[in-house]
Amino acid sequence: MNWYEDSIFYELYPRAFCDSDGDGRGDLLGIRQKLDYLQWLGVDVVWLLPIGDSPLRDDGYDVRSYYQLHPDFGTIESFRMLVDEVHARGMKLLIDLVVNHTSDEHAWFKEARRSKDSPYRDYYVWSDTPDKYPEVRIIFIDTETSNWTYDEGSGQYYWHRFFSSQPDLNYDNPKVQEEMFRALAYWCELGADAFRLDACPYLFERDGTNGESLPETHDFLKKMRAFLDTNYPGTVLLGEANQMPEDLLPYFSDGDEMQMSFNFIVMPQIYLSLKRQDHTPLMRVVRDTPPLPEGCQWATFLRNHDELTLEMVTPEVRQEMWEHYSPYMNQRINLGIRRRLAPLMDGDLRRVAMLYSLLLTLPGAPVLYYGDEIGMGDDVSLPDRNGVRTPMQWDDGPNAGFSTAPASKLYAPVIASADYNPAKVNVAAQMADPNSLLHTIRKMVLARKQVSGLAHGAVEWLPNAPKPVVAFTRSDGSFMLLALHNLSGDEQMVTLPPGSWRDVFDATQTAAGSFTLGAYEWRWMVAE
Ligand code: NOJ
Repeated sequence: MNWYEDSIFYELYPRAFCDSDGDGRGDLLGIRQKLDYLQWLGVDVVWLLPIGDSPLRDDGYDVRSYYQLHPDFGTIESFRMLVDEVHARGMKLLIDLVVNHTSDEHAWFKEARRSKDSPYRDYYVWSDTPDKYPEVRIIFIDTETSNWTYDEGSGQYYWHRFFSSQPDLNYDNPKVQEEMFRALAYWCELGADAFRLDACPYLFERDGTNGESLPETHDFLKKMRAFLDTNYPGTVLLGEANQMPEDLLPYFSDGDEMQMSFNFIVMPQIYLSLKRQDHTPLMRVVRDTPPLPEGCQWATFLRNHDELTLEMVTPEVRQEMWEHYSPYMNQRINLGIRRRLAPLMDGDLRRVAMLYSLLLTLPGAPVLYYGDEIGMGDDVSLPDRNGVRTPMQWDDGPNAGFSTAPASKLYAPVIASADYNPAKVNVAAQMADPNSLLHTIRKMVLARKQVSGLAHGAVEWLPNAPKPVVAFTRSDGSFMLLALHNLSGDEQMVTLPPGSWRDVFDATQTAAGSFTLGAYEWRWMVAE
């Protein structure tokens, strides 16, 4: 099996993790200082959100340079030092590559908008009217009213799928394609092991289509993969394709496109099942997911740096989930929910742990979001998605141990709410407490590494499990794990399959027959 198929990924926001130079903003050398922690937690792959130079109107997803780092994060030398240390620990580094667009402050765009004759004009997509491609949806519906913005200077509209400060690149221009290969090569040379391809479904535009997942886009992504296979074999592409199942699966193609893709289909169904206390939505979606081509893997996740997207559910289900998980309008953004995991669970850490158990036992490679492993809170008073990107809470000292800068200098305030402030939620306290959420999650992560078959093994649902219980076995032929989860706050009775079952964590033996699960309890058992 390839390393990424059974790895534990950890997504971190570099500005939030650890500030090594006291300027109030996290940096690469700060992350390097915290690798002991990540290793202790059992992380195999460190995923860095964008670190390139940027005016930061979309937190680095507005690219000003594909090569230079944003000065907040350090220098290329700091990147080298980080990557070396990651590799020395046997871990891998995944970085974001924003393929779809740049910032309007990128030199290409500045040059392109100078005049219609600019050699860079064709790096972007222009039109005399804002009426072209009417079938294309607007993604950031809370901020944008059109995918076209008028450029006064050159007298045409430019195309953008996200903020108007993020003009889309024109992939019909071979030079743009070449630029992306160059960027891939640059970061591979520096030691990156994998790339998250941001917003990869939207690379091409074609009349009469919604501009998503077009054949041309797949062809180009295959070229990227071939480029890596030829020049940097083993380098992994992880696609961010927030698409319906029938459109998501083609990103794996015949095993010759992306090796990995985020599972945007399963994620919302986990929350829906929990809300309804009914295993059916989750069971259905897992059952309906076809097997992947050899060498491919899902990246499964509960939360990330964006809103919890509800784009892939029906409007009725979206409304149901909005009402349940984000009763206040300020907790919503676009078609999603801008809250962290612990507040979504009303601070009930039994539920948080139970969701982690699902994440770690369902098929796929799990992606953890920084801070969720200690049950960090969010701050909806911050704009956009910033409320889930606050400083990591390392201890209960000044600035939660994140930075030695004066609090007024921090890029964002540390969470101060009564339930989630650093005195209540921090790494140091949880490390010292063997019953903490952090230890519970670590225990699961380490146990997962001991059992085979979780990456791809077959999923069999326990027949007759009560609705509020998610119960399945995972098996690769030689080994069988039984995972039980009670989605409800009431006791539930399940019937264990024939055989003798040993608890993975406390080694207690249970015979087949009736077994009672407490409120939100989860269990991992292996067949003896
Ligand atoms: C997806 C990223 O996750 C999000 O944070 C960003 O705003 C958009 N792509 C645009 O790049």
